[in-house]
Amino acid sequence: MEVVVCRDADEVGRVAGARIAHLVGQRPDPVLGVATGSSPLATYADLARRVREGSLDLRGATAFALDEYVGLPPEHPQSYAATIRRDFAEPVGLDPDRMHVPDGTAANPDEAGRRYDEAIAAAGGIDVQLLGIGANGHIGFNEPSSSLASRTRMKTLTMATREANARFFESVDEVPTHCLTQGLGTIMEARHVVLVATGEAKAEAVAGCVEGPVSTSCPASVLQFHPKVWVVVDEAAASRLRNRAYYDEVLANRPPSQLIAD
Ligand code: F6R
Repeated sequence: MEVVVCRDADEVGRVAGARIAHLVGQRPDPVLGVATGSSPLATYADLARRVREGSLDLRGATAFALDEYVGLPPEHPQSYAATIRRDFAEPVGLDPDRMHVPDGTAANPDEAGRRYDEAIAAAGGIDVQLLGIGANGHIGFNEPSSSLASRTRMKTLTMATREANARFFESVDEVPTHCLTQGLGTIMEARHVVLVATGEAKAEAVAGCVEGPVSTSCPASVLQFHPKVWVVVDEAAASRLRNRAYYDEVLANRPPSQLIAD
């Protein structure tokens, strides 16, 4: 794992954007895995800037969202289909037909999950997966106790996650109770992973992900088994890392251009 501690959220977005642009920029038809929520917004802003300036072209790209609420149709403004379109697909000029989101209205969610995994495989697999992390260590909506080998499927959201996401709804009661989420096994098949986190509320989860025991208690800790992960965090989100001095030393000894390219 590369752990890159940045000054602030904007720098997190610039570093994550540079990493993603480096990994997919030369390819005519890359496959991106994308997350919703607040954490990736600065990264999407950075990618959109690169597209505007002409250094990145995502017109041939395909993208797969991590998750969707069960019961919210794609037209609902807080569905992840609508959110990822607003926050990512439109700003970077992605072909709307190539923006895939799990079908939260499917009559048979587990079947929809299987089809989603098949669609990812048919696209050639995900080149780079961008992740946020929940304060409880979830990635996607793989809440604590999720199988580390899980595939895309329906999950029950924890009350903590529903409360965290209530800011996008009128009240917590309106936040759906279930979701369809890529599984931890699905996420682990991405060729590269970039996880972004900012703020003190994420510090414990980031420490669990990077340095804690691999355990379903902190689902993000499964990333310790992935050979190509970047964890890009601000000072506050890095504040519980025990080996912080070492990560800084690694960074200090490698110029950023080399770091981005590795
Ligand atoms: C979103 C997702 C979640 C979020 C996480 C952090 O698609 O899968 O894992 O990344 O809940 O959310 P924010 O960034 O809003 O704090």
